[in-house]
Amino acid sequence: MQKVMEYGPEGLRILDQTVLPQRSETLLLRRPADVARAIRRLSVRGAPAIGVAAAYGLALAVDPTSSLAVGRRRLLAAADLLKAARPTAVNLAWAVDSLLADSAVKAALDARALREAVERAASAMEAEDRRFGEAMAAHGADLLGGVSGILTHCNTGALATAGPGTALAVIMELWRRGERPAVFADETRPLLQGARLTSYELTQAGIPHQVLVDGAAAWLLAQGTVEAVIVGADRICRNGDVANKIGTYGLALSARAHQVPFYVAAPSSTFDPNLAHGQLIPIEQRHPDEVLSLAGRRVAPAEAKAWNPAFDVTPASLVTAFVTEVGVVRVEDGSLPWPLVGSGAREGVSL
Ligand code: MRU
Repeated sequence: MQKVMEYGPEGLRILDQTVLPQRSETLLLRRPADVARAIRRLSVRGAPAIGVAAAYGLALAVDPTSSLAVGRRRLLAAADLLKAARPTAVNLAWAVDSLLADSAVKAALDARALREAVERAASAMEAEDRRFGEAMAAHGADLLGGVSGILTHCNTGALATAGPGTALAVIMELWRRGERPAVFADETRPLLQGARLTSYELTQAGIPHQVLVDGAAAWLLAQGTVEAVIVGADRICRNGDVANKIGTYGLALSARAHQVPFYVAAPSSTFDPNLAHGQLIPIEQRHPDEVLSLAGRRVAPAEAKAWNPAFDVTPASLVTAFVTEVGVVRVEDGSLPWPLVGSGAREGVSL
């Protein structure tokens, strides 16, 4: 599969995920505003991937031939622009804020040094996301080893991160270890990240799977074929409430009703220790056309209106455990440990 993003002297080249899997096209982003637009229109998407893209977007803000004062002013303006592109995934704000706080970025003495420091910090962030994805995949596969069927939602693979992914990386790692669970992917209305992107990644990896409409998930769980649900996350609050792609909450409720464990896989950059609970998470509302049209064609009456939240919030009480780069993490006494503390995969897993 082509790289999700590649930074070079020309700018940031991204794989345009809006046209996958029919076409494989890239977009060259030269300015922070291009990156912000690409994030808003989901050309690059998935919580960790938009964080890393925004980090490179910051580098594009600094003209190495300008003065340091102009470089710093443009950096701050780009930071505001990029953070505002999508509000729910905390990885975006986290990436921008951590890059601005980087000691080499703060210490740069001229614009050239500033740009280079931002580029280095962005590249380190990309490498870290890759390492975290690999660690998560291993911990998740330890946890889910032996399950006969797995259901996932949205796209949480390599396309959504700078590495192998989160929830989908766990499924891929099980496969790599020789396990052969039945794999089910929700289509993920309205933008079909499951049918378009997860199915594409699984196909490329040679992993047999079935795509189902979101409305079929409860009925699938009722069949008893699925022994674990695993999803990614866009923001996880201090109490363990999880914002993720719309439909996740309904899936978690169905999983609980059928006594199926519900796991959330996410790197530490998706945790927001400053937010006490899920009602405080800003939920992105997207354009009604995404719901009222299908593949660019209007399907609802011209007068119809739509409610189109991109994400929902699953209460911590419905989450069996979190899979992170440090291991399996659980809520204890109403709170997640911060910094995250992981335990061995098999210890005390119960609904
Ligand atoms: O709107 P999207 O496609 O960016 O939503 C993506 C999701 O909700 C993913 O589940 C989440 O970002 C985790 S990705 C590793």
